[in-house]
Amino acid sequence: RHPGWPARLGPLRVPAGEVAIRPVRLRDAGEWSRIRLRDRAHLEMWEPTGVGPWPERNAFWSWPSQWAALRSLARRGQCLPFTITLDGRLAGQITVGNVIRASLRSAWIGYWVSSEVVRGGVATAAVALVTDHAFGLAGLHRLEATVRPENTASLRVLTKAGYRQEGLFERYLDVAGAWRDHYCYAVTREETGSGLVSRLVAAGRADYA
Ligand code: ACO
Repeated sequence: RHPGWPARLGPLRVPAGEVAIRPVRLRDAGEWSRIRLRDRAHLEMWEPTGVGPWPERNAFWSWPSQWAALRSLARRGQCLPFTITLDGRLAGQITVGNVIRASLRSAWIGYWVSSEVVRGGVATAAVALVTDHAFGLAGLHRLEATVRPENTASLRVLTKAGYRQEGLFERYLDVAGAWRDHYCYAVTREETGSGLVSRLVAAGRADYA
């Protein structure tokens, strides 16, 4: 079995409610699709360009194949695909992807949160929980997050969680139909001390539920 997978993390209490992390599952289809169809304007400009129109890519029936692909990557140790829940209901996704082991032990992290619950600390708590897990049971050493300079909310999430800016990747990723510059944020295991969650709690931004 792949180290650190599957896993359930949290819960943590934040202003929006109780945040927990669990593996994506097939029966997420309904909530996942409902939120993403409604939230196109909130999500599309920040996400990698997909194949086909948004309503098709985010339809109920498109989840099973996405879920199966994520599950198979997770079983091979290449990905940790999580659902974020708030008070037990699906509130977003957070994924650790492109996991490379050997002497790199690095991966990227990416996330989105339903527009209904933004600005309540959900994404920051999710990033802290998943980062601690990645450096703990999953055995990684470095996580990277790439963010468009215009994405103020996501830059704030990474700063609050304890990531630092390392540089600018020019024309890095095909997002919303064009090659977009991205800031690279990163954190390595030795910077996290007793963990990003415990730091978030000490800063008064979250509490153990
Ligand atoms: N301008 C300035 N600050 C903002 C704005 C804005 N438009 N919107 C939110 N913020 C601030 C909030 O005030 C808060 O900071 P504060 O605690 O200092 O007040 C912070 O940004 C958001 O923190 P959280 O509440 O923890 O985050 P939230 O649960 O709202 O989720 C997220 C943030 C994930 C960026 C959400 O808005 C989202 O899903 N956006 C669309 C998809 C996306 O951009 N995903 C990230 C892509 S980059 C990556 O994955 C590495």
